[in-house]
Amino acid sequence: MKRPFSDEIEKSAPSAAVQAMADKEKTLIGHSFSSLECEMPVELIRSWVTPVPHFFVRNHLNEPSISPEEWRLTVAGEVEKPIALNLHDLAGMARHSITAVLECAGNGRVFYQPPTPGSPWGRGAVGNAHFSGPRLRDILLRAGLKKTAMHVMFRGLDQASGQAPFIRSIPIEKALDEDTVVATHMNDAPLTAHHGFPARAVVPGWIGASWCKWLTEIRVLDKEFEGEFMTEAYRVPCQPIPPGTLASDVNTRALTALNTKSIIAGPAHGATVKTGAVHIHGAAWTSDAEITGVDISTDGGVTWSRAELESERARYAWRLWNYIWKASEPGDYIVMSRATDSRGRCQPAVATWNPWGYLYHAIDQIKIHVRTQAEGAG
Ligand code: MTE
Repeated sequence: MKRPFSDEIEKSAPSAAVQAMADKEKTLIGHSFSSLECEMPVELIRSWVTPVPHFFVRNHLNEPSISPEEWRLTVAGEVEKPIALNLHDLAGMARHSITAVLECAGNGRVFYQPPTPGSPWGRGAVGNAHFSGPRLRDILLRAGLKKTAMHVMFRGLDQASGQAPFIRSIPIEKALDEDTVVATHMNDAPLTAHHGFPARAVVPGWIGASWCKWLTEIRVLDKEFEGEFMTEAYRVPCQPIPPGTLASDVNTRALTALNTKSIIAGPAHGATVKTGAVHIHGAAWTSDAEITGVDISTDGGVTWSRAELESERARYAWRLWNYIWKASEPGDYIVMSRATDSRGRCQPAVATWNPWGYLYHAIDQIKIHVRTQAEGAG
């Protein structure tokens, strides 16, 4: 498969789709307004924690309008005692806080060659935030798990006529993990409507589709849930397949963990900078491991230098990084970033193609122009 060089990035960058998002501080790139889909321009990555107004939104259906007084979260299925909790009940339970990356499985889809169908996400369907609320484990144990409990299914309150409800399940081991949370708060404030008020699943290290918003039902199952968003969507081939293979010819499994990945937040793709010290910076993340290094190339991948990782870190969070490049010669440059994690996983030059364009994680690259200090000066 051909590697997507910067000219292709330029062609396929979603800038044509830029639209004002009134309630998102007019900063996000909109892909759909019937069901809201908008991503963050990666140049907005300026802090470890992504402010809520900058956080991408991915809705499949229509956002529900929920009365906090009437809202209930039911827990049933393979449990000893089905229960229904209200917001007051959740607030009374032990609260667990984590900082985690939330990335849509389709992030980066636009860079796959050959192209794949689906929302044309560039690099910004990702963010890093604080989430807090009771552990899912504590809620499940309150209902009491039967021995037959194998999967935990989440259903949100969103709907759209003629469309399947957004229902997915996660294996019981992940549901019982100490960091899997039913979050009521994001960045220390109650969840906003776009991000799942009043409660959402937080399944750190796993694709965003596992993080069910507007949660109203938890059902414990004796097997993986079978429904459109499990059996048709959010799946990848069990084995690598030749690019261009028809989806109907592929054996698949449900998507779970995120890939090891870095993105360059600045300079912006296509920017012009002056010779001298150029600040290259961005974010890197992985799943069930730590980011151990980010390497930068300014010569199209021939030589690499280590970036400096910032000190703020948490088990499932992204890590910011910085690199100062001494740009001595004017000209056009391809700048690349490549993350490595503590399990030795490293971003590849080419992402593993799949018919739906999921989990894009190739080495990130941008094109910039370096001009002399004098050039263009007034
Ligand atoms: N939950 C419900 N109920 N409905 C949805 O459409 N979208 C999922 C997930 N949870 C979705 C959902 C997907 S695909 C992603 S990537 C994340 O929510 C996005 O979360 P965000 O919009 O808070 O960024």
